[in-house]
Amino acid sequence: MKILIASNNSHKINEIKQIVAEKISTPIEFISPKSLNLTIDPEETGKTFAENAEIKAIAFYKAAKIPVIADDSGLEVGALNGLPGVNSARFAEAHNDAANRKKLLELLENSENRSARFYTVITFYDGEKVLFFDGECKGEIIREEKGNAGFGYDPIFVPLGGTKTFAELSEKEKNKISHRYNAIANFCDNFLKNNL
Ligand code: IMP
Repeated sequence: MKILIASNNSHKINEIKQIVAEKISTPIEFISPKSLNLTIDPEETGKTFAENAEIKAIAFYKAAKIPVIADDSGLEVGALNGLPGVNSARFAEAHNDAANRKKLLELLENSENRSARFYTVITFYDGEKVLFFDGECKGEIIREEKGNAGFGYDPIFVPLGGTKTFAELSEKEKNKISHRYNAIANFCDNFLKNNL
């Protein structure tokens, strides 16, 4: 069995492959859209992470006709009623991480409540069933950026129980506790293991 990872981000594809390989030994082969010469990039018009992940999974399934997993992630901030949420990548300006962080810090300037979580939904679709697996990483938004690693909101997010931001952790350290790790682990434990 092959599963297509519905993402054009090679970094994300490698991360998913690596986490699955660490967790279980499976004959299932994970492949990229690039390996099938697929260049689709569906518009993420959903109001929730699950809706967006499903939109991507269905679009890639229609193109490839093999089982697909798609993911959608973002940051939810308690004091902002869950914003930036599905708009995480374009909170201030599309794909401008620095501007998005700046906007968030400004909105929280007078807030004592700094709680937040990163959240990921993975959708599996095989032409018949649509399944959802989620994962979160709770933490808080600090007042100033720290660290140079990672991307997005990493420099202002400190995971619960930690002292360093995601941007001060190595990729390996972050990937052991991240929302994406937890969602992929959930997919392995509650789906892959039963379908080997
Ligand atoms: P995506 O769905 O994984 O592409 O994530 C959408 C947006 O959420 C990204 O552009 C980031 O702004 C934010 N985001 C998701 N995961 C992370 C993370 O691990 N660190 C920092 N920001 C993230």
